[in-house]
Amino acid sequence: MSKKVEKNDSGCHDNFKKVFKKLADYYFIEKWNRQFEIDGFNTDALNILCCYFSDNKKFNEVHEGDYRKGFILFGNVGVGKTSIFRILELLFKEFYLPQYNFKFVTARSIISEVIIESKSKVSSEEFIIQKYSKSILYIDDISKNSKAIIWGQKRDVIEEILLNRYDLFCRNGKRTFVSTNLSRDEFTTNFSPSMNDRLFDMFNFIDLPGKSRRR
Ligand SMILES: Nc1ncnc2c1ncn2[C@@H]1O[C@H](COP(=O)(O)OP(=O)(O)OP(=O)(O)O)[C@@H](O)[C@H]1O
Ligand SMILES: [Mg+2]
Repeated sequence: MSKKVEKNDSGCHDNFKKVFKKLADYYFIEKWNRQFEIDGFNTDALNILCCYFSDNKKFNEVHEGDYRKGFILFGNVGVGKTSIFRILELLFKEFYLPQYNFKFVTARSIISEVIIESKSKVSSEEFIIQKYSKSILYIDDISKNSKAIIWGQKRDVIEEILLNRYDLFCRNGKRTFVSTNLSRDEFTTNFSPSMNDRLFDMFNFIDLPGKSRRR
């Protein structure tokens, strides 16, 4: 994930980039009444992402990634991680790309669902964990607080889901996408050693640098 795309590099992901930008502008005007900015902070990450979704070979060769894996998008608060996935969600709905078409869920809502379900008389928290252990998934904003207290016991729900998803990836090649405000070190040490080790097997690591764009 270190090499940069050269300025005159016109790969076949150019069309994907154009479509992404068009949808980004549409989404931003509708939602925020502002332009989607592409600048020195997000150009590299957007190039890498567009390459990932449109040109597997180039992603592997130029960006030294592995297109079969999902990815973790690392970035500080407010740099635009969620927005990028909202735009991709629109894009995959518009164009048929079943290998990437993900379900969008926030880490926080998974934990709430698990807590609510654990109190239900007719179902159990396992139902939610299983629900998110299938098909292609984007988990928005994994933070340090990924544990839930269930029946007096602390359970790392997100880790349980990621472990299941690692098995799913090994069995069926189904990808997981994740974003986080944590640094690479904070993210990896947030999990148990066995999960930590699996992260490298199932994810490319992509950085979205910069400061918050909220204003
Ligand atoms: N490329 C961009 N151009 C202009 N504004 C942007 C861009 N990306 C994000 N923003 C704006 O920045 C704000 C934060 O974006 P977003 O929620 O996507 O960031 P985030 O990285 O997910 O933040 P957090 O870590 O807090 O979840 C939003 O108000 C959004 O409109
Ligand atoms: Mg976000």
